Amino acid sequence: MRPDDAPSVPGFPTTRLRRLRYHPGVRRLVRETTFSTANLILPLFVRPGQGVRQEIASMPGHFQLSPDELAEEIGQIAGLGLGGVLLFGIPAAKDPFGSDAMSNLGIIPEAVRVVKATAPDVLVITDVCFCEYTDHGHCGALGSTGGRVDVDNDRTLEMLGYQALAHAQAGADVVAPSGMMDGMVRAIRRRLDAAGFSHVPILSYAAKYASSFYGPFREAAESAPRFGDRRSYQMDPAAPPGQALREVELDLAEGADLVMVKPALAYLDIIRQVRDRFPGVPVAAYNVSGEFSMVKAAARLGWLDEKAAAMESLTAIRRAGASIILTYWAKDVARWLMDA
Ligand code: PBG
Repeated sequence: MRPDDAPSVPGFPTTRLRRLRYHPGVRRLVRETTFSTANLILPLFVRPGQGVRQEIASMPGHFQLSPDELAEEIGQIAGLGLGGVLLFGIPAAKDPFGSDAMSNLGIIPEAVRVVKATAPDVLVITDVCFCEYTDHGHCGALGSTGGRVDVDNDRTLEMLGYQALAHAQAGADVVAPSGMMDGMVRAIRRRLDAAGFSHVPILSYAAKYASSFYGPFREAAESAPRFGDRRSYQMDPAAPPGQALREVELDLAEGADLVMVKPALAYLDIIRQVRDRFPGVPVAAYNVSGEFSMVKAAARLGWLDEKAAAMESLTAIRRAGASIILTYWAKDVARWLMDA
């Protein structure tokens, strides 16, 4: 049934929608959803050492890189026109408070300096979170809330401020808090502003769900929680969709410049709602590790065409309303678009 205000269109045989698909040139002419490498961010994993280039088993083509190997990698991607890189660090040592994360000598500040020294024009975004740095694998300092051991939200806020500051001092262009702590954007904004970094934007992982699709990443970043799970801070997939809008609204009120929805493919409805509710706010979507690994695995078995599946996934994420996509296919896409 047509809604009353829908324009009346003649039906078949006057209208044949296949006419818009018959000629490849017409298909190309009416195409609207496109993306360029400038909208894509490549995640990279950095660990201490020299000459380390260790492939992540569940993410073929992605590696844990030592700083010297990171320089190699950056040299190779500098000419691709990517939107930027997102750095994740695996520290030399973990402790209950994730000290490495707050140190100017930590793995991420070192990595940022390496990227900037190699290719100053490559935009560097840093992930601001503690799960890779704590020995328990949770995204902040632990405390006891109502008799249960869990991440202590308010104590973690101050730590996040210092982590973001260390990244900014090393030269990070954008900081991206991903721990889903209440008040994290405000805490980071205040710390950065007080230290003279009011020009550094915050890309908030605003609506981040507790997802099984992060599995391969936790191998890559060695960040799986040692006990329990992240469901007391990351969002419940079955929560009312409006909760994601509240998360975004609060982060914007705290000073977020860009917001992210994560994962992407199972949350296209959320991307669309955020886009519609906050026009003018750049919306990023994270095409996460599991979304990448599923296609890779199926392609290896000969069950899917990797390039076609990847491009279709990215097109869908763009169509849903994301202006920026973080994806492990960023380099491949740059090559595929050049070949096209
Ligand atoms: C947390 C973080 C995670 C991812 C990005 N930042 C993992 C988690 O929340 O457990 C996942 C990214 C991916 O799966 O590709 N620092």
